[in-house]
This record gives sequence, structure tokens and C-alpha cells, in this order.
Amino acid sequence: MLKKSIALIGFYIISLSACTKQAPPAPMPVASPASTMQSTATVKQLMLGAVIPASDIVFGVAATTPADDAAWAKVQANAIVITEMAKLLIDSPRKMDDGEWISKSQALYDTAHAVATAAVEKNVDKVSDAGNNLYDACDGCHMKYMPSRQGSAGNPSQ
Ligand code: HEC
Repeated sequence: MLKKSIALIGFYIISLSACTKQAPPAPMPVASPASTMQSTATVKQLMLGAVIPASDIVFGVAATTPADDAAWAKVQANAIVITEMAKLLIDSPRKMDDGEWISKSQALYDTAHAVATAAVEKNVDKVSDAGNNLYDACDGCHMKYMPSRQGSAGNPSQ
């Protein structure tokens, strides 16, 4: 019995010292993938590639009620994508100035975020109302910054 315990203690000591003696694994050199990624999209490309298709899904809710959970999840996801686009709009090389460009991008973020919240509730009226505010945020920026729309009011997709 005693021999067994001594043997056991011995085993613990050996395994403990084996642990402490073990050298920490050398850090593997990891190439940062971000180092090769550059933000090159223009404002127009963000509009065409993400903001317009995502907002089409959002604006579509007023006309056609999402049929199931998957359809609502798609609405929410597209609203969230617009919030991400708002963040990209204020990044270099797209930022136009440090004043209204920021506040109008913030309005895009806030209104799209409200759409996403309403989509979680699966509430058509709330999504439609939030969608109208989103539309106003699009329009507000275009009136000042879109070359073909400056000073006008109306459809943000014209
Ligand atoms: C912070 C400013 C800003 C916001 C917010 C914004 N846009 Fe734009 N958008 C622009 C600018 C600037 C252009 C013009 C880009 C160019 O022609 O170089 C543009 C262009 C467009 C165009 C024309 C693209 C083309 O073919 O020339 C459409 C359509 C458009 N935006 C839709 C939207 C919609 C829909 C929203 C809202 C969901 C939105 N935009 C929100 C700044 C904004």
C-alpha cells in the first residue's frame, strides 16, 4: 500500500516536472492576410455593389410581406449590410469631408440599424416606416453629394 503511494507520488512528480520542463511552443510566424487587402471601392461601387441591392430588399417589404423566417432573416441581414456600408463610406478613400459626409453616413447607419431591429420583430409596418427613414437618409446625402442630384429632391435612385 505504502509502496504504491510512493510510486504514485513519484509518478506525479515526474509528470509535473515533465510539464514544467516542456518549452513553450515557439510562436508560428503568421502572415497577416490583412496586409494584402486594400480598400479600393469607390462610393459608386459601394452603391452599385451593396447599398442599392441591399436597400432593394428592405424597400421590397412594403410591397411583399416576407413569407417565412428565412425571408425575414434576409431582410435583417441586408439592413445590417447597409450599416457596414455606412462605416465604409466614412473610410478613406471615400470620405468627402469631415462634416456633413460623416453625419449623412451616420444617418444611413442609424436608419438601417432601425430597419434591422424592426426586421427582428418581423413587423411589416415598423420595417416600412424605418425603410422610409432610410430612403430619406439616401436622399439627404444625394442632394448634397451626388453630382447629378445636387440641390434637388426626389427619388434617391435617380
Ligand atoms: C453618405 C452619402 C450617401 C448615402 C447615405 C447614400 N448614397 Fe448613394 N450615392 C452617393 C454618392 C456620392 C453617389 C454618386 C457616386 C458617383 O457617381 O461617383 C451615389 C450614387 C448612388 C446611385 C447612382 C449610382 C449610379 O449608377 O451612378 C444610386 C442609385 C444610389 N446612390 C442609391 C443609394 C441608396 C438606395 C441609398 C440608401 C439606402 C444611398 N444611395 C445612400 C452617396 C450616398
